[in-house]
Amino acid sequence: MSKSVLLIIGGGIAAYKSLELIRTLKKVGIGTRVIMTKASEHFVTPLSVASLSGEKVFTDLFSLTDETEMGHIELSRSTDLVVVAPATADLMAKMAQGLANDLASTALLATDKPVLLAPAMNVRMWHHAATQRNIETLTKDGIHFVGPNPGEMACGEFGLGRMAEPAEIAAAIEKLLYSDARPLSGKHVLITAGPTREPIDPVRFISNHSSGKQGYALAEQAERMGAKVTLVSGPVSLPTPPGVTKVDVETADQMLAACEAVHAPDLVICAAAVADWKVANPATQKLKKNDKAEAPALSFAANPDILKTLSNLKSGRAKLVVGFAAETVNVIANAQEKLKRKGCDLIIANNVSEGVFGADKNAVHVISKDGVENWPQASKVDVARRILELCAGRLK
Ligand code: CTP
Repeated sequence: MSKSVLLIIGGGIAAYKSLELIRTLKKVGIGTRVIMTKASEHFVTPLSVASLSGEKVFTDLFSLTDETEMGHIELSRSTDLVVVAPATADLMAKMAQGLANDLASTALLATDKPVLLAPAMNVRMWHHAATQRNIETLTKDGIHFVGPNPGEMACGEFGLGRMAEPAEIAAAIEKLLYSDARPLSGKHVLITAGPTREPIDPVRFISNHSSGKQGYALAEQAERMGAKVTLVSGPVSLPTPPGVTKVDVETADQMLAACEAVHAPDLVICAAAVADWKVANPATQKLKKNDKAEAPALSFAANPDILKTLSNLKSGRAKLVVGFAAETVNVIANAQEKLKRKGCDLIIANNVSEGVFGADKNAVHVISKDGVENWPQASKVDVARRILELCAGRLK
């Protein structure tokens, strides 16, 4: 299940960074519902927040429509974590006193979920005895903090009080959301991703439409779930997920060699779209047209099957080997046959005639010797997380 946070945007100049925070959370599959204080509307508009979060923005404690759609009590509880960013001196003071005179403070008093504050204020306000007293009270109440950081302030002064950067806040959020969910701690996961490129000559190659998104989502989520991750990747235009060791390859032969060089992984997931054939004798110089009427005849040779090779290793076979099956017809029957033929433990099958390549969503069937599970369409990030949770259960 994907997680969600209730983000309360306080009224400070750092409010603009909260827009970036919403985007960052969205990218990692965390949904955001937002409450804005009246003061925050001087810095960012509910419209821009709503456009980024894709959800209605709540601003008013006494709005009849808001209350009938979702009461403030439910708003504060139908979430996994409450985040206040920027947390102003005023909001923190209200929290420390238990005041509830607007929607933000009421939600903060009503919530039964953990709360994370990202304070932002002038350096003198931060160091003021009243603020420090409030921080002490809030810490005793079990409230979590990220930042503030030292640096130059919008007001021109220098010191402690800058709000933590969106990436830092997102990391703190993930740590709190998934602290009980690092089921791959201590495991080494090897993942293949992306297409391979098989050269015809130095300037031409044969490849396919794989975007690498599913493999990269698996690598990113495995790392978040505590695994050491090696990602062997064909050419794609995706950033390397943080904390993941990436090995770049082009051909299937290189991909196999890079995988075999990884010492005793616990889990292997082959998500790459490996070319089944390579050109038998790629030309060492560019093939010239030279106005010849005839096209060159290419002869092909079989590529190694990486999934099959890693599934059948005599020594150092991973405890769990997972493959994907890209099918256009008879999805389940073909995938069941693939499971047997390749000797892997699980096959994640999808129908690639339905525009999976490059898409952000995927509906898959999970095939093992125990049977078939049909998973509903979900984002590739959610699919990745669910696959990894399943694998973590089997690795226990
Ligand atoms: N695979 C691999 N090495 C290959 C071909 C495929 O590791 N040379 C892996 C893929 O990463 C995937 C699984 O095998 O996990 C199935 O890939 P797919 O393209 O669906 O199947 P193929 O083996 O190519 O079989 P077919 O062409 O008959 O569908």
